[in-house]
Amino acid sequence: MRAQIIGTGSYVPETVLTNADIAKRIDTTDHWIVERTGVRERRIAAKDEATSDLAYKAALQALESAEVLPKDIDLILVATATPDMFFPSTACIVQDKLKAVNAAAFDLSAACSGFLYALSVGEQYIRSGTYRKVLVIGAEVMSRLTDWTDRRTCILFGDAAGAVLLSAAHPHDGILSIHLHSDGSLWDLICVPGGGTAIPPSEKVLMEHLNTIKMKGNETFKVAVRSLGEVALEALQANGLHPSDVDHLIPHQANLRIIHAVLTRLHMSKGKVVVNLDKYGNTSAASIPLALDEAVRDGRIKKKDLLLFLAFGGGLTWASALVRW
Ligand code: UT7
Repeated sequence: MRAQIIGTGSYVPETVLTNADIAKRIDTTDHWIVERTGVRERRIAAKDEATSDLAYKAALQALESAEVLPKDIDLILVATATPDMFFPSTACIVQDKLKAVNAAAFDLSAACSGFLYALSVGEQYIRSGTYRKVLVIGAEVMSRLTDWTDRRTCILFGDAAGAVLLSAAHPHDGILSIHLHSDGSLWDLICVPGGGTAIPPSEKVLMEHLNTIKMKGNETFKVAVRSLGEVALEALQANGLHPSDVDHLIPHQANLRIIHAVLTRLHMSKGKVVVNLDKYGNTSAASIPLALDEAVRDGRIKKKDLLLFLAFGGGLTWASALVRW
């Protein structure tokens, strides 16, 4: 038995923050940001919007498109690096909002690779026959972890949520494989060092902005291009497939230059890749389900198409998934 995505949904907050808006606050330009990252604007959550609010709205859409009721969900997984609270899990808060009274719920943390990590967990529960309907959500309010004085990072991120509903599939369709990797020795390339148990909240943490994203951009960039290329080929080889068999590449949306470098490595044309980072920036665990939902809703993705998902993020973590739609 395989797991299949039977519904998709997404949500982005209303407020748009353009490059020009950021250039009014710090020493940067729209030209630099577009040329070095591809990002033109991003969405910012309202003051009273938390990650669970974004996740809930994306989940409702996914359930609607699958024509499944909240009471029929067996498991809710939320991949997030920006949970509402330390505990309870954001997944439990989403469960309450959905009134998905029969579901188990927990969060999963793998930064920008979180969605594919959570998808792999959901897939295993379906494959084993333990659960019939699993809701997998990637949701982030990255703006709350952003240092708005750091021009190297504040231009990159945005807030969003994406969701998919998994169900059992015909053995030839659905999720063909998922490959996960991590290298914990590189944990300090992207991290939020303060505010947790290692460096608890204090005046010093706030003064030195240790509760915000710190990133060694150049090093991260190089590892991202190498790892994404490798994990893509690993997925294709495991299934006896070739890059030319892929109909749609849906990568994590961190930087357009990373995406183009991966396309070059795989000898794939730009026409096959789903890109929306120009509108939303890097939305971490939300980026893949957000891009997927957009491509499903605009009709790009058709039945039997072969989809390759690629993720990369803090940890470091990286992953791929091959899906027959
Ligand atoms: O999703 C998780 C994974 N994250 C990633 O994959 C991110 C990977 N890294 C990147 O996308 C890129 O490294 C960045 C977009 C973050 C940075 O681009 P870069 O081409 O690596 O720039 P850089 O950090 O090497 O900086 C080049 C120059 C520096 O000036 P100097 O020191 O050479 O004089 C920076 O100070 O560009 C300067 N710079 C800026 N200038 C204008 C850095 N940020 C900005 C800015 N506006 N916003």
